[in-house]
Amino acid sequence: MSEVVLIQGDGIGPEISEAVVAILKAAGADITWVPATAGMTAYEQSGNPLPDDTITLIDKHRYALKGPLTTPVGKGFRSINVGLRQRFQLYANIRPAKRFVGVHTPFPKVDLVMFRENTQGLYSGIERWANEAKTHAESIAVVTREASEDIIRAAFDYARQNSRRRVTLVHKANILKLTTGLFLDVGREISAQYPEIEFEDIIIDNMAMQMVIRPERFDVVVTTNLFGDILSDLASGLVGGLGLTGSANIGRHHAIFEAVHGSAPDIAGQGKANPTALLLSAVMMLEHLGQVDCARRIEAAVHRALADKIICTPDVGGKGTTATYADAVIQLL
Ligand code: NAI
Ligand code: MG
Repeated sequence: MSEVVLIQGDGIGPEISEAVVAILKAAGADITWVPATAGMTAYEQSGNPLPDDTITLIDKHRYALKGPLTTPVGKGFRSINVGLRQRFQLYANIRPAKRFVGVHTPFPKVDLVMFRENTQGLYSGIERWANEAKTHAESIAVVTREASEDIIRAAFDYARQNSRRRVTLVHKANILKLTTGLFLDVGREISAQYPEIEFEDIIIDNMAMQMVIRPERFDVVVTTNLFGDILSDLASGLVGGLGLTGSANIGRHHAIFEAVHGSAPDIAGQGKANPTALLLSAVMMLEHLGQVDCARRIEAAVHRALADKIICTPDVGGKGTTATYADAVIQLL
């Protein structure tokens, strides 16, 4: 029996969390949920978007499944997502994007896994006004050898364990010579320890173009925080959209599982949200917890449910709702 902290999240968070909890229960997942709050919901209740109680619970139970959290744009509190990743040193953000049989996409062969450095880069939170008139703003990107080694090694270890053939490191070392230059140097060094895995590096702008033209050529991809954030939304788009892609934030002692997408305020409360992304994040969690049979059964049911457009949510061309889809997945388990 595993105890897992459940943060429902903001916007579509409660709708998709409810669906995911019901599906895991029906699948016989051996999990006791420990509820906690964060984000806008917590801010409105207590004035604190990341309550101490939530931190304490994640610290104690070590695993959390988290719905999306709204972060005010341009003002207000700092991103709670970034805060959580830094607080628990969740250095590896792992985001698979694989084509689903029932979902239409021009790229039927996509099967890539993005490894995004999750604690540093331009998301280090070192931003300031450089003058009093606030007409000059600065942001500092932090890259350390240690954190680069952690994420790049995680990508190569994953490639080795999952019989993947190639790791592609994405950077901008032609311009950002020190920061992403260091990341690239570390990648070259570590690649030498994995001779059976092909290694290539590619500049971010070319990567964006290649991913749109020939995405099937990518296998395991490793990159810095901002590039990984952007490219993983791009990768989600290649396989049918943000409603479909899950992710894991892994550290040495803790792990938080969440969808790639955000709180989708444009569709919140309308029963249109696709719970697959959060569900596949929960599947990654079940694998992490050793409940592999349960994970496989849910995944198989998802693939079959996505082929039936009557019950699917509108983002994948369906005519159904969050609830009709969740019920169908449960029937197919
Ligand atoms: P978003 O990812 O919430 O939405 C982008 C588009 O994808 C929208 O059109 C939305 O309707 C659609 N979409 C997203 N998830 C979907 C789902 N499950 N089913 C169907 N359609 C879905 O990105 P946006 O609008 O830029 O951000 C909204 C808020 O979410 C912001 O406050 C942002 O800071 C936050 N956010 C939080 C994240 C997290 O908690 N990890 C990650 C990304 C954004
Ligand atoms: Mg993002």
